[in-house]
Amino acid sequence: MSHKQYIRLGAIIQGASGNMSAWRHPDAVADASINIQFCQQLAQKAEQAKFDFLFVADGLFITEKSIPHFLNRFEPITLLSALSLVTQKIGLVATLSTSYSEPFTVARQFASLDHLSGGRAGWNVVTSPLEGSAKNFSRDKHPEHDERYRIASEYVSVVKGLWDSWEKDAFVRDKASGEFFAADKLHTLNHHGKYFSVQGPLNVGRSPQGRPVVFQAGASDQGKAFAAEAADAIYTRQETPELAREFRDDVRRQLVENGRDAGDIRVFQGISVIIGDTVTDAERQYQETAQLVTLKSALDYLGRYFEHYDFSQHDPDAPFPDIGDLGQNSFRSTTDEIKRNALERGLTLRQAALEAATPRPTFFGTAEDIADGLEHWFTSGATDGFIVRGGTPTAFDDFVETVIPLLQQRGLYRTEYEGETLRENLGLREPENQFAAEAALA
Ligand SMILES: Cc1cc2nc3c(=O)[nH]c(=O)nc-3n(C[C@H](O)[C@H](O)[C@H](O)COP(=O)(O)O)c2cc1C
Repeated sequence: MSHKQYIRLGAIIQGASGNMSAWRHPDAVADASINIQFCQQLAQKAEQAKFDFLFVADGLFITEKSIPHFLNRFEPITLLSALSLVTQKIGLVATLSTSYSEPFTVARQFASLDHLSGGRAGWNVVTSPLEGSAKNFSRDKHPEHDERYRIASEYVSVVKGLWDSWEKDAFVRDKASGEFFAADKLHTLNHHGKYFSVQGPLNVGRSPQGRPVVFQAGASDQGKAFAAEAADAIYTRQETPELAREFRDDVRRQLVENGRDAGDIRVFQGISVIIGDTVTDAERQYQETAQLVTLKSALDYLGRYFEHYDFSQHDPDAPFPDIGDLGQNSFRSTTDEIKRNALERGLTLRQAALEAATPRPTFFGTAEDIADGLEHWFTSGATDGFIVRGGTPTAFDDFVETVIPLLQQRGLYRTEYEGETLRENLGLREPENQFAAEAALA
C-alpha cells in the first residue's frame, strides 16, 4: 500500500467524554453511554473525518462506586453491529476479554461483525484487570496476571484457526449441480490444548478481511510479547514521545524475532485532547470539567484501581496512605505509577485522588499546537497513530473541525479512505488461510 505516511486515527466511544463526572457538564449528553443517537452521530462524524476506526473499551465488573459510564453502557459488539448499518467505511473495534468468554463464540461474533460491516471488524483482546469479574462468571478466582496472558495466547490461536475454517471461495452455491460448498475448502481445527478443546469448523464463512483485525491492549512485558506474537495493532499509552518510541521499537523488534515483519503491526497511542482558541482558553475548559469531580467521587475512582479499596477511611489531607500490595493482580502498571508519583512528590491523598480522576489531557492548546504535537510524535517514529478521546464533552468535535484540516493541509492525513476494509485502510496484509497455506506446501 502506498499510504504509509499517514497518521492513523481511532475514535473512542465512551459516553460523555472528559473525566468521570463530565456527564454533569452543561454541554454534555448526560445519558450518552446508553444513547444510540449519540453514538450514531459520533460514528458518522468520525467517518466524515476519515478516522480509521471507532473503538469501544469494556469491563465486566461494577460496584456502585464505579464511574457513571461503567454503570449503564452498551455491550461493544452489540453497539458496533448497530453502527455498522449507519456507516460505510469506518472500522469497528470492540473490546472482548479472553479470560471470561469462549473462543468459538467470540470467533463467530467477530466473523459475523466482519460480514455485517463488509470487512470492518476489529477485536481488542484484553485479559480483564478486575478481580471481581470472576464473581460474574461462576468462578472462584480471577486468573493471575501472567496466566491470563498464557490463556490469551492459546485462545487467540484457536480463534484464528476457527476463522480459517472456510477458504474464501468455499461456498460455490451451484444451483444446477446442487453443490453448496467445495468440500476441499472446509477445514476442521481439532484443537486440544492446555486451556481449550475446540473441534470446529466455525459456522460462518471466511470473513471479508480474511480475519478481523486483532488489537491488543496491555502494556506489561507479557502484554507486549503477546502482541508481538498475535496482534495486528496495539493500543497503549506512553507519557512522552521518547518512551513511546522505545515501546514501538521494542515491539517491532519482537515481531522480527517471531518471524514476522516489523511493519506487520500498527501501534496506537491513546490520547485525550482539549482545544482552545488560546492556551488560556484550553486551560479554562480543563478547569471547568475538572471542578465537576468531587473528592468523594475521586476517592472512589482511585479505589477501583486498588481492588475497590475504600480510601475514604483515611484523612484526605494526610500523606498518601500505605496500602501494601493491593492492585498487583489487576491494574499493576497503573497502581505502581500512582504510588510512586504520590511518594516522590509528597502528595496528600486528596491531591493524588483528584490528579488521578482529572488527568490533564496529553495534547492541550490551540489546534496548531495539537497538530504540531501529533506531527512530532508521528514523524519521530514514536507511533503509527492515535486513539483519540475528547478531554471535554465538546473536544472531539473541536478536534474534527480544527485539527483534522490542519493535518490534511500538512499532507499527514488522508482526505479519502484508500480501501474498503479496516485491514486495507490500516495498510495491513490480508492473512493467509493457515490450512490452505499448509496444503499448498504439501
Ligand atoms: C491502553 C490500555 C487500554 C486498556 N483497555 C482495556 C479495556 O477496555 N478493558 C479491559 O478489560 N482491559 C483493558 N486494558 C487492560 C489490559 O488488557 C489487561 O487486562 C490488564 O490491565 C493487564 O495488562 P498489562 O499488565 O499488560 O498492562 C487496557 C490496557 C491498556 C494499557
